[in-house]
Amino acid sequence: MVATKNEIAGSLRASRAGALNGRMRAPGDKSISHRAIVFAAMAIGETSVHGLLEGEDVLRTAAAMRVLGADVERDLLPDGGGAVWRITGAPWQAPKRALYFGNSGTGVRLILGAVAGVGVSARFDGDVSLRGRPMGRVLDPLRAMGLQACDTDGHLPIGIEPNGRLNAIDYRLPTPSAQVKSAILLAGLRANGTTIIREPVPCRDHTERMLAAFGVMLEITTEKGERVIAMDGGQRLSATKIIVPGDPSSAAFPVVAAVITPDSDVTVENVLVNPLRTGLYMTLREMGADIVFENERMENGEPVADIHTRHSVLHGVNVPAERAASMIDEYPILSVAAAFAKGETVMEGIAELRVKESDRLSACEEGLRASGVNVESGPDWLRVIGDGHPPKAGARVKTHLDHRIAMSFLVMGLASQNPMEIDDGAMISTSFPTFMDAMFMLGAEIKNLPH
Ligand code: S3P
Repeated sequence: MVATKNEIAGSLRASRAGALNGRMRAPGDKSISHRAIVFAAMAIGETSVHGLLEGEDVLRTAAAMRVLGADVERDLLPDGGGAVWRITGAPWQAPKRALYFGNSGTGVRLILGAVAGVGVSARFDGDVSLRGRPMGRVLDPLRAMGLQACDTDGHLPIGIEPNGRLNAIDYRLPTPSAQVKSAILLAGLRANGTTIIREPVPCRDHTERMLAAFGVMLEITTEKGERVIAMDGGQRLSATKIIVPGDPSSAAFPVVAAVITPDSDVTVENVLVNPLRTGLYMTLREMGADIVFENERMENGEPVADIHTRHSVLHGVNVPAERAASMIDEYPILSVAAAFAKGETVMEGIAELRVKESDRLSACEEGLRASGVNVESGPDWLRVIGDGHPPKAGARVKTHLDHRIAMSFLVMGLASQNPMEIDDGAMISTSFPTFMDAMFMLGAEIKNLPH
């Protein structure tokens, strides 16, 4: 059975119900899924995508590609083989209505770059959470390339107008953001000259890997300790076949649930283990977690493994700022693991958490404090002090339209002394639409509360 939005929506309560056991698959990687749809819609020919994350964010990206002119179809493979998405690129047309991205920062930022490069006029909008998130970080470099963006204070809604062919730029990323890097690369595909991006701290590289799979030539070097990407403008993408691996950011929830719940033994199969995404797993191991990457292999240019986890006794650690880019979406669930550990866990260099789907630093601090956990935060750090016992919990947490805050506190309720409630689980379907069923199959108790 697949959880529908109605089952996830509304208030939810997670309670302690014994060990979690079994094998499961994480949904397709969100970053790779967005990129697969957008790149395919820009490519010549028909691309097939297997294992796509069919969460709300990615479905909005697919809808935007249809509106821009691409042919996007979903077929079911015979014998329960899952869905295959077939996307045929086409010259993009100016949409009549605003492209709407709901909660999805990745969708809107990547497509802003791509549309700017193609040179059609378009308007972009999103939900209340997305309207509050900074877009200047993408618009500034795009403007430097020649984009004309109207009526914007650096937030959605944003309108852009064609202004001739863009010019390539040489840009040092001020924050390690793969969304910004990708927007510039997508705009640079049709620009005059060679686009150069310098990364003092490397962030997820799925755009570079996947552009190469679509036949785009990029040169990646290291200069003075920085990763440098160079890409000539005027390149075309050619259709290909993409197989999307499981999302390590979604696998993080059952993995941490197993680590903190006594007697648990869980394997999440087929998870992307690209080193630019696995900082959480490294950190949990340093804390004492029994996590093994089994059956490691390369699939479609990305490293993949089955993640095998057992209940473990955890101790606090320092998580250095340099690691933040490789686990940027995992701090909420790490802060939950830290509440079960003995000693202090200090997470540094995480100011970016303040501009995610919610201010995650505040949301984590609020939720943990309400659960009786000793927690402190500063502008760019979070400290959680555990006594090695399950927290008291018994709190109701506000999720602020943030899927990862919702799932993190539900996981906490599975092993705390008292249940945890969240005000609204609706946003979980943006990244992990099968979360409820997957956790139920492992033995978790998560229930809808009456309105
Ligand atoms: C993403 C990049 C990250 C991450 C987001 C997905 C991507 O955002 O938080 O969930 O697919 O490029 P930033 O680029 O803002 O760090």
